[in-house]
Amino acid sequence: MAKISRDVSEAIEHLKNGEIIGLPTETVYGLAGNAYDVNVVLKIFEAKKRPSFDPLIVHTDSVDKVREFVSEFPSGALEFGYQNWPGPVTLVLPKSSLIPDIVTSGLDTVAVRIPNHPMTLDVLANLDFPVAAPSANPFGYVSPTTAHHVNDSMAAIIPFILDGGPTTIGIESTIIDFSTQIPTILRLGGMSVEDIQLQTGDVRIKLHQGSNPNAPGMLDSHYAPRKPLIIGNISDMVEHHSDKKIGIISWRDRITGINPAYQFILSPTGDFMEASKNLFAVLRKLDSMDVDIIIAELLPDEFLGRAINDRLRRASQR
Ligand code: TXA
Ligand code: MG
Repeated sequence: MAKISRDVSEAIEHLKNGEIIGLPTETVYGLAGNAYDVNVVLKIFEAKKRPSFDPLIVHTDSVDKVREFVSEFPSGALEFGYQNWPGPVTLVLPKSSLIPDIVTSGLDTVAVRIPNHPMTLDVLANLDFPVAAPSANPFGYVSPTTAHHVNDSMAAIIPFILDGGPTTIGIESTIIDFSTQIPTILRLGGMSVEDIQLQTGDVRIKLHQGSNPNAPGMLDSHYAPRKPLIIGNISDMVEHHSDKKIGIISWRDRITGINPAYQFILSPTGDFMEASKNLFAVLRKLDSMDVDIIIAELLPDEFLGRAINDRLRRASQR
């Protein structure tokens, strides 16, 4: 059983002692440890059962500290960092030799983020090393948005989870590669493409299909509940699967003729932020309920709707 607590100084102690802990951010909870210590990073990969070719994001609390472990800020990256950090966006930058190869899976770039959570900023400010933190879920499963989600899968593996409440954004950070000529979005997430374009002008989108950034392949099954999830027109699919126990995820409308206890509306007012905040908790809830199948509809493909749709599509892969 991991200790779930709001004690920031205890979180700092654990990290200084080379342990890995659950750490809140505004996007999802991370599984955090000293990014400079190869043995600690190994523990993170093991705890997550994560393939070694899938690199980690490194977190710290100031741009000055980022300077210590990147070799340079390519054109536009520094301004972008100052504008948007702390926040739900990760920048891929050329790494310095301080970052062990295991963190970046051998790449010469490192993914960096300053997360926007007051307790975690406090933790990071009191460390003289950055913290590597993937989302604190077993590889492929739905990311955690509460301390209890982390405990559900990591209780036997980690000693401590810092409880920073439910995350406010609810989906992972947007990843932008600034090591390329034109900034390239590698993962849709908590900062919308529209907002990024406003700042960078030219931006390319080249989403990772699988979890190996060096090997293009099939769309990974990711963010996936154990129950089968299918996407499409809800009413049509309800009719098609009328012999099954159905759980529903809708964008803003209630579906008539279905028990409301088995229906989850992401945002009745049609607010993308509210929908992203609710998405992973709803997936986990339905996964734990007595249903055979989860039926979901896509959101409008704009702003955070695009990132939410990306998660729903990957969750539907088998
Ligand atoms: O919101 C988030 O980003 C959360 C919180 C905890 O900060 N973290 C997170 O980490 O989502 P994770 O490990 O679940 O996803 C990180 C992704 C990896 O799948 C990897 O493909 C990509 O970041 N990545 C890491 N380093 C990279 C690099 N050097 N080049 C390209 N992609 C990289
Ligand atoms: Mg993840």
